[in-house]
Amino acid sequence: MSTYTPADDRYDAAEFRRAGHSGLDLPAFSFGLWQKFGPGYSYDTRREIVLRAFDLGIAHFDNADRYGPPHRAAQEFFGQVLARDLKPYRDELILSTKAGNPIGKSPYLKGASRKSLLASLDHSLRDLGTDYVDIFYSHSPDESTPLEETVGALVSAVQQGKALYVGISNYQPDRAREIAGLLRRAGVPLLVHQPRYSIFDRRPERNGLLELAAAEGFGLIVYSPLAQGLLTDKYLADIPDGARARDSAFLSPEVIDDTYRQRAAALNKIAADRGQSLAQLALQWVLRRPEVTSALIGASSVAQLDHNVRALDFPPLTEAELAAIDEHGVHGTGLAL
Ligand SMILES: NC(=O)c1ccc[n+]([C@@H]2O[C@H](COP(=O)([O-])OP(=O)(O)OC[C@H]3O[C@@H](n4cnc5c(N)ncnc54)[C@H](OP(=O)(O)O)[C@@H]3O)[C@@H](O)[C@H]2O)c1
Repeated sequence: MSTYTPADDRYDAAEFRRAGHSGLDLPAFSFGLWQKFGPGYSYDTRREIVLRAFDLGIAHFDNADRYGPPHRAAQEFFGQVLARDLKPYRDELILSTKAGNPIGKSPYLKGASRKSLLASLDHSLRDLGTDYVDIFYSHSPDESTPLEETVGALVSAVQQGKALYVGISNYQPDRAREIAGLLRRAGVPLLVHQPRYSIFDRRPERNGLLELAAAEGFGLIVYSPLAQGLLTDKYLADIPDGARARDSAFLSPEVIDDTYRQRAAALNKIAADRGQSLAQLALQWVLRRPEVTSALIGASSVAQLDHNVRALDFPPLTEAELAAIDEHGVHGTGLAL
């Protein structure tokens, strides 16, 4: 039995942005359940974070068969919260899932084949306890599978009523352009591309993805805009207990070296001079680009979430501030590229 009643004012301050040339608006902040949403973490905290996100107008929850840990656990958890608390609001939710990154040793538990994508989608729908997802993604490019087969699977997902829209993630611009063309010809336009983008990862600026999104008419949902926490003040002095760099396979403590700290401290100072935190500056920075529909954030507490969504309360970044950010926001800092 749910004790949850959503906040009446959940849409009052929330900003929504149009995804490319589609008819779909997405919240400026989307929430992802990549890490710390498995059973190793407090159920009550995970539930509080999800419900707080919804109260803040974050109507888009990003998942994948891989998320947890372990694999599939984040979707099983989200399915429980959906059943208990959010089911009456399903029409107000954008639920995304992805398939194709390895989740087991079987050749059918990885890659972008028709078999792998559609079997994973069926499993995700069961885990989430919903008849359809709003966005279904090919999680990563798979050079060994013909693009036509991957596109055919995405189109089938829509035609079977299991997904409303389709997306791709981590694809290079040349293959993204090809996929966009194939999908358009099949009558299922590419809604979004999900790349990593942050002050420390400039690839979408350098490889033409931002321009491609504008030209092809798809939106960008950019993930890890805080570089997994490196673009916050949490690692300036030390690595705190419970931080991702202590317990995640995806963020090594070794990247928190003197070079990183100097750059993060300089960025932190730019933020402080604007009266905001480094996290807020970093989120405002990705959302300054009109091609970016949504910043896809994570959080391990309600306090982080509350803090981060205030990023848009500050004045736009000036040219001088952007230039200063470029000086210290060196591409590749702290990240595996
Ligand atoms: N398509 C893909 O291949 C792909 C890959 C990666 C991610 N994603 C998606 O993107 C989502 C977000 O990725 P991400 O979690 O790396 O995003 P992020 O926003 O860069 O990092 C979030 C993490 O930073 C820390 N943090 C957040 N706010 C903070 C604050 N104010 N002060 C201090 N620390 C703070 C928290 O970690 P701790 O408190 O635990 O340290 C939090 O979990 C994922 O959940 C997933 O949906 C997609």
